[in-house]
Amino acid sequence: MDNSQILIIENIKSDVKSFLSDDFSGHDYLHVCRVYNYASHLQSVYGGDLFVISLSCLLHDVDDKKISPDTFNDKKNALNIMNKYSIDSDIIKSVIKIIESISFSEGINVETLEAKIVQDADRIDAIGAIGIARCFSYAGFKHNAIYSTEDFCYSDLFKTDSALCHFFKKLLIVKDTINTEIARDEAVRRTRFLKTYLIQLFDELELNKYGIDITELLDLK
Ligand code: ADP
Ligand code: NI
Repeated sequence: MDNSQILIIENIKSDVKSFLSDDFSGHDYLHVCRVYNYASHLQSVYGGDLFVISLSCLLHDVDDKKISPDTFNDKKNALNIMNKYSIDSDIIKSVIKIIESISFSEGINVETLEAKIVQDADRIDAIGAIGIARCFSYAGFKHNAIYSTEDFCYSDLFKTDSALCHFFKKLLIVKDTINTEIARDEAVRRTRFLKTYLIQLFDELELNKYGIDITELLDLK
């Protein structure tokens, strides 16, 4: 990045920090910083346009459906922030395209190296110890339960809105959606920790009483 781009990134960091200062849904500024740092690490190995990657990381959650549903479609918050710094329109287009394509729930295939790196960095932050913290924090924010006894109904396992169900709907399968080898290795390591955590949790909750085979459930064979 040249000096003017470095300056823009520093300015946008402080814009995003104030924008997300009252977020308690797991999309806080420190999440953005972790994504930015991990993506910078991946870029140092795989290449890609560092300015585009940095902008995409910093702005990837300012129009998230969960925190700003009104601007989710037009990405107005990201556009307003970028337009303040007269960023080239082609760069703005690439950044918006990346932000639109990386969400887990949207399930869109990412094409460019830059998008792959940003997506991997965002997904890595959803798993491991920090991913567990964010999952329970998000459930609290949404007034969802930690777990429900309905989750253990054998014919319909883990289908409620509880935090525990989110492990099965997303966290345990994130590792299969990672693009780069370095992030994939990290995802495997973090998924191992998710499983260690669940084994302990299920032991404390005495899930064996419900006839649940944890070995099969966590694919530990
Ligand atoms: P990101 O924008 O970082 O990709 P999401 O917007 O999907 O992630 O969610 C933010 C955080 O909240 C993530 O750590 C995610 O796993 C967690 N989360 C999302 N949906 C739920 C849910 N229904 N229950 C518990 N945690 C959730
Ligand atoms: Ni994110």
